[in-house]
Amino acid sequence: MKIIEAKDYQDMSQSAARFIIEQVNRLSAPVLGLATGGTPLGTYQVLREDHARNKTTYKHVYTVNLDEYVGVSPDHENSYTFYMKKQLFDHIDIPLSHTHLPNGMACDQDAECSRYEALIERLGGIDLQVLGLGLNGHIGFNEPGTPFSSKTHTVELTQSTKEANARYFDSYDAVPSQAITMGISTIMKSKQILLLVSGEKKAGILAKLLTEEPNEDTPASVLKTHQDVVIIADSDALSIVKERGMAF
Ligand code: GLP
Repeated sequence: MKIIEAKDYQDMSQSAARFIIEQVNRLSAPVLGLATGGTPLGTYQVLREDHARNKTTYKHVYTVNLDEYVGVSPDHENSYTFYMKKQLFDHIDIPLSHTHLPNGMACDQDAECSRYEALIERLGGIDLQVLGLGLNGHIGFNEPGTPFSSKTHTVELTQSTKEANARYFDSYDAVPSQAITMGISTIMKSKQILLLVSGEKKAGILAKLLTEEPNEDTPASVLKTHQDVVIIADSDALSIVKERGMAF
């Protein structure tokens, strides 16, 4: 794993956006795996600004998102579909038909999970997967204990994840209890992975994932077994790693 230290959140967002733009410009039909949450908001802002200023085109780009809540309509402001349109898709020239998220409203969730897994394969796999890091080490919505062999599946969200995401909802009780997420093996098949980590509150889990052997209790630790992972973390997120004098 290659670790790049960013000064702060803004610097992390700039570096991440540069990284993504490079792939978008280099590949003829890039498949980007995208994440939601607070961490990539700044990155999407830089991508929007860059598109407006430098006219970077996304007409040839395909996207697959990591996850979506179950039972939240795509038009609802709390859905990840709404988030992606608001933060990115509505501001760049990507055809909406090229953008994909799991359908959290599907009646048959198992069929939806298989459809999503097959869709990623049909697109030729993910070239660059952007990831955030959950406070408990989750990636996508793969909570601690998720088998590394997992494919796209429906998950029950843990209390800690619901609490962390409650800030986007009216109350804790309004947070959906289930989501559809790419599995760990789905994520690991990506050709390249970009993990973004920002803030002091992520310092503990980042240090844990860097020190531990890969284990299913810390889902993100699986990334140590991938051949091409780049972590862009800001100084606050790296504070414990640096305190312990760990080399990176
Ligand atoms: C959420 C999302 C993840 C995200 C993570 C971290 O629950 N499902 O995809 O990466 O938790 O969120 P944040 O960036 O807001 O800290």
